[in-house]
Amino acid sequence: MAVEGQGYFLRSERLGFRHWRPADLELALGLWGDPLVTRLIDSRDQWSALAVAERLQAEIATGAQHGVQYWPIFLLATNEHVGCCGLRPDDLPARVYELGVHIRSRHWGLGYASESACAAIDYAFSQLGAKALFAGHNPKNEASRRLLVKLGFRHTHDAYYPPTGLMHPSYVLEAIGKPTPKAG
Ligand SMILES: CC(C)(COP(=O)(O)OP(=O)(O)OC[C@H]1O[C@@H](n2cnc3c(N)ncnc32)[C@H](O)[C@@H]1OP(=O)(O)O)[C@@H](O)C(=O)NCCC(=O)NCCS
Repeated sequence: MAVEGQGYFLRSERLGFRHWRPADLELALGLWGDPLVTRLIDSRDQWSALAVAERLQAEIATGAQHGVQYWPIFLLATNEHVGCCGLRPDDLPARVYELGVHIRSRHWGLGYASESACAAIDYAFSQLGAKALFAGHNPKNEASRRLLVKLGFRHTHDAYYPPTGLMHPSYVLEAIGKPTPKAG
């Protein structure tokens, strides 16, 4: 049975989404303070507590300005923090958002990235009127590549990504003809 009290604005079968709060630093440290989570996101070996706090602030600011962020996600059954999944503006005049998913390492391999991404994609197209979603991944990130292909994203090109200094495969998912894969 689900536990009450988190104020989720979006739910999937097992997960609830809410907005980041300034008091969430401990959750943020459990996610972005884990080098397993961040090692393919940028070239820093370990994010400092300050870097994590800045990332938390950046998510809150994006939410305030644009109404989207990489929202924190939780298990509905226990309210345990699982990670974050959501959107950020990519090309707002064209109504294109970037999709991102970061799952805490102890929750990997359980389908939470797939499930949360499906919910965020549906939210983008049905609630925000997105025309397309952009996503990219570190070329060494096989899990992320498999996730994007499974979600129906189409590889378009490779682009230089300054945080890693690498060429990242880039993908698009258009609103029309969007497949809706099941989680798991
Ligand atoms: C990439 C990440 C989001 C995957 O999360 P997850 O919850 O474990 O993913 P899922 O269980 O939903 O699985 C998604 C796909 O990835 C595959 N996968 C998961 N872990 C994998 C691994 N270590 N190696 C290869 N494939 C893997 C799964 O098999 C599945 O593909 P399939 O259905 O074709 O078999 C997670 O590892 C993570 O947060 N990494 C750190 C942050 C990051 O790199 N985010 C992506 C860039 S935004």
